[in-house]
Amino acid sequence: MDFLFLMNSKFLSLKIFTFRELFYSKHTTMSNTTLNLNAQLYDYLLKVSLRESEVQKALREETAKMPEHNMQISPEQGQFMRLLVQLIGAQNGIEIGVFTGYSTLSMALGLPEDGQLIALDVSEEWTNVGQKYWEMAGVVHKIDLRIGPALDTLQQLVAEGKEESFDFAFIDADKENYYNYYDYCLRLLRPNGLIAIDNVLWSGKVADMENAEPETLAIRDLNEKLSKDDRIDLSLLPLSDGVTLIRKK
Ligand SMILES: C[S@@+](CC[C@H](N)C(=O)[O-])C[C@H]1O[C@@H](n2cnc3c(N)ncnc32)[C@H](O)[C@@H]1O
Repeated sequence: MDFLFLMNSKFLSLKIFTFRELFYSKHTTMSNTTLNLNAQLYDYLLKVSLRESEVQKALREETAKMPEHNMQISPEQGQFMRLLVQLIGAQNGIEIGVFTGYSTLSMALGLPEDGQLIALDVSEEWTNVGQKYWEMAGVVHKIDLRIGPALDTLQQLVAEGKEESFDFAFIDADKENYYNYYDYCLRLLRPNGLIAIDNVLWSGKVADMENAEPETLAIRDLNEKLSKDDRIDLSLLPLSDGVTLIRKK
C-alpha cells in the first residue's frame, strides 16, 4: 500500500494518508447525500438529458400561460414517468389527475401502440386543452379519459372486476384523497405493478410539524402509512416535489 506523510506546520502533527483517502477527499462531494439543484445545475441537467418532443413542449408552453400552470409535472419528471412505463413493459395504467394532460401524454408515449391509459379528472375544461396535443402526438387512441370524481371511477373499475389487472398507476390529484387513491390502486394493480405518487414532499411542508394545512396533513399521514405498509416496497425520490415509487408485492 502507498502512503503519504503530511506535516501540519501549525500543530506540528504528522498524519499518514493512503492515496485512496487523498483521492476521495479531493474528488468526491457528498455522494451519500442528495444534491441541492441551483438554477445553473438544473439547466445543465435539462441540457444533457431532456428529450422532450415538440408536441410536449407546445403543450407545456400553452399550459404555462394558465394561472394554475404549477400543477403540471416538470418536463424531466414527464420523461422519467415515460421511462418507467417503458422499463416495466407496461401495457396499461391508471392516471389520477390529468389537468392539461402533460403527464398523460408523457406516459402514453411510453406505452405500446395497443396500450391503454385510463385517465381520471373532474375537469372537462382543463382536460380539453390536452386532447388536441394527444391527437397531434398520435397517442389519443391509447388514452381513455373519464371525467368525474376519481374515487367513483376507481370504485367502478373494482366493481367491473378489474382488480389485479393494471401495470401501473400515477397519483397526482386532490391530496386529501391520496390514501384512498393509493388503496384503490393497490387493489387494481397486478403483483409487481408500480404506483408513482406525486408531491410527497409538498414543498417541504410535510417536514414542518407546525404546518397543519389539510393537504399537508393528508400527505404526511400517507407517507407515514406507506413507510409501515408491508404489502409494498418503496422508494421516495427527491425529484421535483417528491415522488414515491411503490412496487406491489
Ligand atoms: C396537480 S393536477 C394534475 C397535474 C397533471 N398530472 C399534470 O402533470 O399536468 C391535479 C388534477 O386533479 C384533478 N382533481 C382534483 N380533484 C379530483 C377528483 N376528486 N377526482 C378527479 N380529479 C380530481 C384536478 O381537476 C386537476 O386537474
